[in-house]
Amino acid sequence: MNTYLEQFNNKNEISHEFFEQLRTYAEINNVPIIKRDSLVLIQGLLNIIDAKEMLEIGTAIGYSALSFVSAKKDLHVDTIERNELMYQEATKNVKMLNKQEQVNIIYGDALEVDNNSLKKYDVIFIDAAKAQYQKFFDKYAPLLKDNGIILTDNIIFHGCVSDQENLSKNVRSMVKKIDMYNHYLNTLEDYTTYYIDSGDGLAVTMRKK
Ligand SMILES: C[S@@+](CC[C@H](N)C(=O)[O-])C[C@H]1O[C@@H](n2cnc3c(N)ncnc32)[C@H](O)[C@@H]1O
Repeated sequence: MNTYLEQFNNKNEISHEFFEQLRTYAEINNVPIIKRDSLVLIQGLLNIIDAKEMLEIGTAIGYSALSFVSAKKDLHVDTIERNELMYQEATKNVKMLNKQEQVNIIYGDALEVDNNSLKKYDVIFIDAAKAQYQKFFDKYAPLLKDNGIILTDNIIFHGCVSDQENLSKNVRSMVKKIDMYNHYLNTLEDYTTYYIDSGDGLAVTMRKK
């Protein structure tokens, strides 16, 4: 993100330092976390639509979930993580920031979690295994409130989705699935999707009225 603009987004100095430490941890340990510009965009959207309940698929170390609830004090986030180490790290971070009331981490595979144990959400944020995006969408879209939005991160995957030359077999296979997902969203009759060139690409999907 443009550093000149970034300074205006760092209003809370104490948490700012904590979030910078999480970013450094993520970088050192190769944990992929949301890009700054997409984060700021989502924080804005959460406030614009006055979101109260959010579901996140893919917690990692809790960076995004904690950033969301820090930007909106009456927001509650259920977030699902299947990796035990990540789950433990996120749990620790939520406690450190004393946000247990706002962030509920569900340990498990998002494709196996029982939908009936969840709520209806204003925002669903898909940020887990890229090859499974369509499955996540199909499984969780029924939990979206009428005026809610589904956000999907990494829809350009470092530019690889539009330029699939010179990729390893595994990356190409994953990137093809993201491409199929982007087209899939575009074919849905009941939803409209806006594809935004922010961070690693962000899709904003909403039900047609
Ligand atoms: C990109 S990271 C999430 C980053 C986080 N949202 C952030 O921006 O701070 C993706 C995470 O999703 C988790 N994950 C992948 N597939 C999953 C699944 N099927 N169910 C639950 N978690 C999953 C991975 O273990 C990883 O920690």
